[in-house]
Parts: sequence; structure tokens; C-alpha cells
Amino acid sequence: MNRRLSAPVGITATGQCFPPRVVTNDDLSKIMETNDEWIRSRTGIGQRRWVEPGVGASHLGAPALQMALDNRGIKASELDIILVTTVTPDTLFPSTACRIQQMVGADKAFGFDLNAACSGFLFAFTTACSLVAAGGVKRIGIVGVDIMSTIINKEDRATAVLFGDGAGAVIVERVEEGLGLLDFEHRIDGSGGAFLYMPAGGSLKPATAETVAAKEHYVHQAGSEVFKNAVREMADNSRMLMDRNGFTGDQLKLFVPHQANIRIMDAAAKRLELDPSRMMVNIDKYANTTTATIPTALHQAFEQKRMAKGDLVALAAFGAGFTWGATLLRWAY
Ligand code: UT7
Repeated sequence: MNRRLSAPVGITATGQCFPPRVVTNDDLSKIMETNDEWIRSRTGIGQRRWVEPGVGASHLGAPALQMALDNRGIKASELDIILVTTVTPDTLFPSTACRIQQMVGADKAFGFDLNAACSGFLFAFTTACSLVAAGGVKRIGIVGVDIMSTIINKEDRATAVLFGDGAGAVIVERVEEGLGLLDFEHRIDGSGGAFLYMPAGGSLKPATAETVAAKEHYVHQAGSEVFKNAVREMADNSRMLMDRNGFTGDQLKLFVPHQANIRIMDAAAKRLELDPSRMMVNIDKYANTTTATIPTALHQAFEQKRMAKGDLVALAAFGAGFTWGATLLRWAY
């Protein structure tokens, strides 16, 4: 059974923002025991962007949203909701949505943060489409932003090399019949929690001098466990979604997977029997920006004219939680 909405809702504009500082694999090899060959061959990453100290999620998120508003040709005051997805908010509260609301001047909006790690954008997109389809609100700005460089342990080479900083944004509203969100399948499974998490800094283990000394405010990841689960769930879930809608790989104009590891992405593309040219890849330039990978990839794909109005596009993600999901849409503009 598919999960079609009661009204056609989709993306009508995109935007992005990356910090200017490029950190190459060779740069990292000067501060930790690693090398370009290992990082490229195991992950597909060639470089990433990292912020300077003092730059938070709102500083990338607000310009990304402003770019999406400009591309749509509307003012921030025309937004009903600002929905921010992130695991690296400016502060635990107030929400980063409140900070971005003030920065862009969205004076008629309400908003909130949503945390689903690397699947955050997919969950936010489905939430936004459902709210618009229900009729209570007209227009939603989604911002997917993560500043991973602030929560990675630069002494843990197995994790530190993987992540970058960035923000992507989209505008969600009613679209023409037959376009926009077609179907989705999302899941969470808390039994995977211990494989990818930040041990301290929440209510369970508040910050103390000891937790800081033990580096418990950084990402802790059991890489191969996450890898195995990501390959299975991203590939199976995407294939299942295509099958239940009667689509084959050759009908898919673009596959936009979460950019965590090129080997995970290739496995999913293979399961979809997809020509490799139909997969959006930017992990080489930006690494894993967590919730920002999919909205920034969508923005770049549209700029590069890799999809147009009416084209079938599939999104897929897997992340901490575990969380995972796949989404099918027809590009709406
Ligand atoms: O977005 C959220 C979801 N996250 C993911 O999807 C990440 C999933 N996991 C992965 O992408 C992979 O597991 C990693 C890229 C993290 C690791 O790749 P792997 O092929 O699983 O390598 P490994 O952890 O098994 O390590 C292989 C070797 C080890 O050395 P020994 O024990 O074989 O001597 C590591 O110590 O590679 C070593 N190693 C490194 N060497 C150079 C680990 N990190 C590095 C490094 N540079 N940065």
C-alpha cells in the first residue's frame, strides 16, 4: 500500500550554503594518522568544508533558506512554518528555527527543530508535505543543516575524516496534480542507538568536567555496524518503494542518496539496477554533511539541469537512531 497524500505537494525552490574553508584529505593527514588514498578508496571523500570557530547552524541555515526564498521569488513573511532538521543546533534551546526565523525576518511563521540525524531531511519533507496537504498551512521552508566539525573528535581518524559542514533548504507548497511527493517509507529502530551517538550533553548524562575530559560530546561510531545496516536498509527500502509503485530503474531520472560513503551509495544504486550516471554524487567535494546531504544535492542537481519538471526522483537515507527512509517524487518545476 502506498502513502499517497490527499493533495499534490512538493518542492518549488532550493538553496544552499557552505562555509568557505576547504579541508582536503592531505590537510587532515597533517593533523592525524591518515592519507588521501585510504579516505578516497574507503569513502569516496576528497575534501570537505569546515566552519571557523563561532559559526553555528543558523549562520549557514539562514542564507540557505534566503537563497531558496529568492529562487522562488517570495518574501520570508510568506512562510507559515520554518522546519529545521539538525543534530548540531546553535543551542539545545531556543531552537535553531527561532534563530533562523529572526535572521530571515519570517514574521508570520511558527517553527521547530526536528532531529532524525542523516534521515532528517526526508522526515522533515514528509512532515511538511503532510501539513500542507492537510490544509492548515500554505508554505513551509525546510532547512537541513549540520556543523559536524564541532562534534567530531579530531583524534578519532575513523570518524573525523567522514564529516563536513553545510546547509540546504527547500520551499514546500501545493504543486500541479501528479507532481510532488508520490510515496515514502520511513522507519526508526532504537536498537541501533549504541552504534552511532553522542554519549553526553543530554538529560541522561549532563555535561560535566569529566564528560568533557572523556570526549563524550563527540560523535561515537561503530563504523562497520553502521555500514552493514546502511547498505541493507537503503538498498532494500529504495527497491521496495520503486516496486510497489510499479517503477523500474530506467524510469528514474535521478537517485539522490544520503552521501555517507560511496560504497553504500553504489550498493543502493545497484539494487535499483540504475545506470550510474543517474545517481547524484557530491560526497567527493562535501563529505557527509548529515541532514544537509540531500537538500544540497537536490539544489546542485537542479542547477546542473539533471532533472526537470515531471521527472521521477528518488531519495534515500540512513542514519543514527537508527533512522532510515526512502521517498519518491516528481520534480515540480
Ligand atoms: O551518515 C551516518 C551513517 N554513517 C555511515 O554510513 C558510516 C558507515 N561506515 C563507514 O562508512 C565505514 O565503516 C568507515 C568508512 C567508517 C570505515 O571503513 P571500513 O572499511 O569499515 O574500515 P574499518 O573501520 O574496518 O578500518 C579498516 C582499517 C583499520 O585498520 P586495521 O585495524 O585493519 O589495521 C583502521 O584502523 O583502516 C584503519 N583506518 C584508517 N586508516 C587510515 C580507519 N580510519 C582510517 C583513516 N585513515 N582515516
